[in-house]
Amino acid sequence: MRKPLVMGNWKLNGTKQTVKELIGAFAEAANKAGDKIEVAICSPAVFIPLVEGAAAGSKLQYGSEDCDIHTQGAYTGENSPTQFKEFGCKYAIVGHSERRGYHKESNEYVAQKFKSAQDNGLIPVLCIGESESEFEQKKTMDICKAELKAVIDLCGIAAFEKAVIAYEPIWAIGTGKTATPEIAQDVHHQIREYLKSFDAAVADKVQILYGGSCNAKTAPELFGQPDIDGGLIGGASLKVADFTSIIETAAKL
Ligand code: 13P
Repeated sequence: MRKPLVMGNWKLNGTKQTVKELIGAFAEAANKAGDKIEVAICSPAVFIPLVEGAAAGSKLQYGSEDCDIHTQGAYTGENSPTQFKEFGCKYAIVGHSERRGYHKESNEYVAQKFKSAQDNGLIPVLCIGESESEFEQKKTMDICKAELKAVIDLCGIAAFEKAVIAYEPIWAIGTGKTATPEIAQDVHHQIREYLKSFDAAVADKVQILYGGSCNAKTAPELFGQPDIDGGLIGGASLKVADFTSIIETAAKL
């Protein structure tokens, strides 16, 4: 059985005070949920040392929202996977659509980030998903497959034994237009089938999270789908009541 994972992605949000208020509450909720699920927060890099302190001794895990392909060197403004690892990060999100879009990160470049994170002891959380026009043109699986294939080509299918996939339809991110449980389940199932064509055991084991306006209201039905193993939560991970409720939903599965 795959363990449900509830992960928050704070994006470019938060203050020192946010870290204090939210991490304490989420650590408590994660402890209460016990070993049935995993809970993690990915915060802006600048907050990670504070998150490390606030989460210490709890079951709450944490990670970065991105990472560079290099471990060190003259790359102004970047953060390396080894640096994140030193501060206790477990996960690194790679290939979020906001980075693919605003920073023009190609599938091949995202694959390099995936590899760099994994080679340096982090669990990459690979975000994939289509835009609204691609959805309308029924290109969802073409996009998802190409985004997955770039990683398979560089790292091999076995790399997904120690990775997480997050299906995040771009049209659902921050729009309040959550994918219906039927649409999300169908895509998750097809993603798993695609991975199965390379290695059935890996496909069966890999956690596939749903992201895109997933909140306290929509999480129960989404998480109830057989191929949805939890969520990557944006806006609702900045609210104590909402994210705590999502954690409780996953713990009941
Ligand atoms: P929202 O939950 O705010 O739609 O964001 C989803 C997301 O992009 C998580 O990575």
